[in-house]
Amino acid sequence: MSHSSTSEVRVSTAHMFELLLDGFPDIIQSVDADGTIVYANRRAAQLLGYAPAELLGKHVSEIYAPEVLDKVRHGFAKLKTHGNLTVNESLLIDQAGNRIPVEIRSFAVYDEAGQFLRTFSILRDIRDIKELQNSLIHAGRLAAIGELAACVAHDINNPLSVIKLYLDMLKHELRDIANIPPAASDLFADGIASIAKASERIERLANHLREFSRTRENQSELVNLHQTLADALFMVTGKINESNLTVIKELPDAVPYVLGDASQLEQVFMNLLSNACDATKGRSAPELHIRITAVTEGTRRNHWAIQITDNGAGIPPEARDQIFTPFFTTKPKGQGTGLGLSISRHIVRRHRGEIQAVSDPGQGAAFTVFLPIADPATLVQPRPPADPAAPAAP
Ligand SMILES: Nc1ncnc2c1ncn2[C@@H]1O[C@H](COP(=O)(O)OP(=O)(O)OP(=O)(O)O)[C@@H](O)[C@H]1O
Ligand SMILES: [Mg+2]
Repeated sequence: MSHSSTSEVRVSTAHMFELLLDGFPDIIQSVDADGTIVYANRRAAQLLGYAPAELLGKHVSEIYAPEVLDKVRHGFAKLKTHGNLTVNESLLIDQAGNRIPVEIRSFAVYDEAGQFLRTFSILRDIRDIKELQNSLIHAGRLAAIGELAACVAHDINNPLSVIKLYLDMLKHELRDIANIPPAASDLFADGIASIAKASERIERLANHLREFSRTRENQSELVNLHQTLADALFMVTGKINESNLTVIKELPDAVPYVLGDASQLEQVFMNLLSNACDATKGRSAPELHIRITAVTEGTRRNHWAIQITDNGAGIPPEARDQIFTPFFTTKPKGQGTGLGLSISRHIVRRHRGEIQAVSDPGQGAAFTVFLPIADPATLVQPRPPADPAAPAAP
């Protein structure tokens, strides 16, 4: 086997450079002293929507968004004198006018006399990174809201104990006051009873919220789904009442235990119930309802399924593939994070279960949560005697 000659090596090296530059996943370009593009790799043309030769001869300002041109000019001048430049974020503009955020690393090339010749730059498309950053900011904000909710829940207890204290005193005082007209006495009694009931609800909500936002390891306990569903319903009572919905619970008395984290499963049901409320918002369809049922058909052996059905707007066909994607939401800005279903799926899968959705446009939606049963042979949990959390009787 003969050795390659020097010229063959040179040719193949040049070819390799060509392959490298054109195959490189970032833009590589060179700009002369006037700011004219004298080289651009294939990725540049592809990202900016030009034919490869079209970029050559263009002024570099033509590929940047107008709002960053001042900075580009300034950066170019700095690059010429300093020899290199890094820009964490700038904005290119493609042929169709779309903005593409990029990170830029450049260096300058000079001749032997120190005269500036041209720049070489690598421009990296950072759209994905920015999206991830935004998601993280969003997630961070959510965590902060969770903490805030826990603090608020904690602080609610102080004024609440004052209310309860004076309520008790009022009750006693009233008993001792003679000569109150019967009508007024009834009014006082009713008023006191209502305040007591409302304070109890606030207390329960606050305690629940505190417990809910407590960060803790994943629990593995026997979960009574009757209780979990009742707790979830309790947490969304306000929303349900606001929507003028009826909740129809059609669970059998005996529901098997599942093994897992009750508070996380409660979060799943809360998300589903809350979505169902949102889906019925603004609709006057006859008898808006949420139905909670047990599913036996199509359920894997030793699994149990709970279905939450609503007769709201339904899931638009074009959204069906995306509803479990993090941050996907069709709700107006500020009203939905788009995390409810993705978190729910994550939780359910961690419980070795599955969550599925079906929906016909205009016919509402049904979400089914499949969960493995803790111990199919022995563990069956009867319905708690009173189910105070059900906001509206069927
Ligand atoms: N019961 C439902 N009926 C119709 N569409 C639904 C239903 N549940 C979910 N969706 C659709 O799925 C999308 C994603 O739901 P998800 O719970 O993940 O986020 P979200 O409800 O928009 O926001 P968040 O949960 O933070 O309030 C919703 O925006 C909605 O378009
Ligand atoms: Mg939701």
